[in-house]
Order: sequence, then C-alpha cells, then structure tokens
Amino acid sequence: MIMGYEKKVAWNSSMSVGEETIDTQHKKLIGQINKLIDILSSLNVDMGSLRETGHFLYTYIKEHFAYEEEYMEKNDFPGLEGHKKIHANFIQFYKDFQTELKEDMTSGNFSSLEIEKLMEKIKKYLLDWLVQHIKGIDQEYAKYIKSHDS
Ligand SMILES: [Fe+2]
Repeated sequence: MIMGYEKKVAWNSSMSVGEETIDTQHKKLIGQINKLIDILSSLNVDMGSLRETGHFLYTYIKEHFAYEEEYMEKNDFPGLEGHKKIHANFIQFYKDFQTELKEDMTSGNFSSLEIEKLMEKIKKYLLDWLVQHIKGIDQEYAKYIKSHDS
C-alpha cells in the first residue's frame, strides 16, 4: 500500500440528489474509482483488473451522464446545456486518462513513479472531481427539481 491513499471517499447522504437511480450510479462510480486506486496500491498491480476497471468506468461514466442529462431535460432544468458541457469535458479528460493508462501499461515501464503519478491523477481529477461535482453542480438540478415538484 502506497502511503497517503488509505483514506478513501465514500458516498454519503449529503451527496444525494433525491433520485434513486442517480444516487445508485454515483455510489457505483465512486466505488469503481476507489477500486482503481486499490488495484494500483497493490504490490503487484493486476493489469487485467486495471484494464477491465478502466474500461468499465469509461462506459459507465457515459451511461450515467446520459441518464442524468435525460433526467434534467425531462424536468425542464434550465441549466441543462451548461451541465452537459461539463460532462463532455470530463468524458474527454477520461479518454485522455485512459490513453495514458494504456500507454503506461504497455510501455513495459510501469514503475512505481508512473503508478504514483497515475494515483495522484485519479485522486485529484477523478475522485475529488466527481465528489465536488456531485456536491456542487449536481445539487443545482436536485434543488431545482425538488422545488418544482408538484
Ligand atoms: Fe452531473
């Protein structure tokens, strides 16, 4: 275990957006990013699991964003377009991250330094980003929809 990554983030009710499917998806996303961190933290990194989890996340992120956007649209949330842009940017970031991950894995030079760099990126730009997104921008549609619920 590499130091400093023991403390993981877990979903809690303060992150709820008041829609069960989305809450479940958020939990799963956080869980899978934590799994990436776990895989990279192990002494012998399991390349198969790393590839599998990385790919699963890519598919699941897109699926989740599409569902969330549909939900905002269905509920006439006025901030939809801006929120969609943020999602699109994150998908692009994740694509680049995956390319980097694949390159690292095939380079035959998967050193502890590379692993450390990947972990930092995952922590900062995937996990922390997602948690801030859920606690911040996602709460905007949650509040709007809640207050317009008749
Ligand atoms: Fe979102």
